[in-house]
Amino acid sequence: MVPTTLFFSCAVLAIANVVGAVPYAAKPKPVVLNPAKLVAAKVRLDAGTASPALKDSLAALTTQADEWLNKGPWAVTNKTITPPGGNIHDYASQAPYWWPSDSADGCPYIQKDGVRNPETERYTDHGERADMFIASYILSLAWWYTGNEAYGRRAGDVLRTWFIDEATRMTPHLDHAQIIPCANTGRAIGIIDFSQGYTSVLDAAALLAAGAPGWSQADAEAFKQWNVQYLDWLENSEFGKTETAAKNNHGPFAIMQSAGIALFVGNTGLAASKAEAMKSRINQYITANGSQPQELVRTRSYHYSVFTLVAYTRVADIGKKVGVDLWGYKGPDGQSIMQAINFVTPAATGAAQWTFPETEFEAYIATDVVHSGADNGNQDAKAALKSIPKPPTGDLWFVRPAVEQLDPA
Ligand SMILES: *[C@@H]1O[C@H](CO)[C@@H](O)[C@H](O)[C@H]1NC(C)=O
Ligand SMILES: *[C@@H]1O[C@H](CO)[C@@H](O)[C@H](O)[C@H]1NC(C)=O
Repeated sequence: MVPTTLFFSCAVLAIANVVGAVPYAAKPKPVVLNPAKLVAAKVRLDAGTASPALKDSLAALTTQADEWLNKGPWAVTNKTITPPGGNIHDYASQAPYWWPSDSADGCPYIQKDGVRNPETERYTDHGERADMFIASYILSLAWWYTGNEAYGRRAGDVLRTWFIDEATRMTPHLDHAQIIPCANTGRAIGIIDFSQGYTSVLDAAALLAAGAPGWSQADAEAFKQWNVQYLDWLENSEFGKTETAAKNNHGPFAIMQSAGIALFVGNTGLAASKAEAMKSRINQYITANGSQPQELVRTRSYHYSVFTLVAYTRVADIGKKVGVDLWGYKGPDGQSIMQAINFVTPAATGAAQWTFPETEFEAYIATDVVHSGADNGNQDAKAALKSIPKPPTGDLWFVRPAVEQLDPA
């Protein structure tokens, strides 16, 4: 067994040797992804000793990165409607299923569940945010593995435009997310607009900080300051507090977001306390057999049982970095993240049918959570790996070993 420190110095040397011109001064410090795995995968790819699965993952990654290369950048200043309060730099989105009534001013707005009001598209921030999240992550990873400058520069542009440049930057709060006109100027539940995917953006920035061309020390510092302010809003605003306390799946996603940002800005104490807070969620919302009763009663129970595991597993990965063991944690009745993974695995592999309500069953959406269980020592998940389906755009696990939501958001 080679000591870890020795392994790292060899790994970094190997990278320097192979890619020559691109100096990897630093090992990346992502908040969710495992840095040792990123380095190990890169070393194998560069040395030509990668497994077929790892090579396939890289090919799928660069295919996606090539598509993102010519899109964006995105900015909150692109929207064609002024948000409440009048500051175009404020992120704003409108609740999609609420429609004006027949009155002269359209008030009050009325809910038609599942029927999208096209008027909400005037707020382009929601759609652009989704592209910005994915593009920055995919491009940063593609730069890390290939050293192709174009990927790194584009990822930097994407982050600078959304978060840093004076002319286009977003103000660091979500006061105006999921607005219902006539009724409010934003809602706490709108925080899900960010909490669902934002930790990947943190990892994108962490990758770029490992030496990407075009991502300067000043960019890294400005991005960190943005996150310091945003975290302050998440922790201290009424919306932030409400969302963190949410009793549905919004709660764990809010915890995931704050834990990730806290670790990113160096507040490991806060990150650890957030990870600790997941234990009571496990106790309350996962049963001993791994079912999540709150999600099982929904019309898309497979989707939601997998979706919540995005938050549980990613906070468990953050916890590893701050001394909180959620992967090994068991609640008073034996409830655990692993059992919740085991609960969805037979449906993912096709070994058993999903017998709960589900209007759009897609087995592959659990592929990442099965991988994460296997990587963390779950023997059932390991055995299931050979029969899990590949997501339509390829299995990226081996180049970004952290769970993502795999079906469209
Ligand atoms: C959005 O804003 C960015 C930055 O100003 C700009 O480059 C891009 O072209 C805009 N996109 C649209 C669709 O207006
Ligand atoms: C799992 O456990 C819960 C709570 O104990 C129980 O209600 C449910 O029937 C069990 N589900 C399965 C599929 O075993």
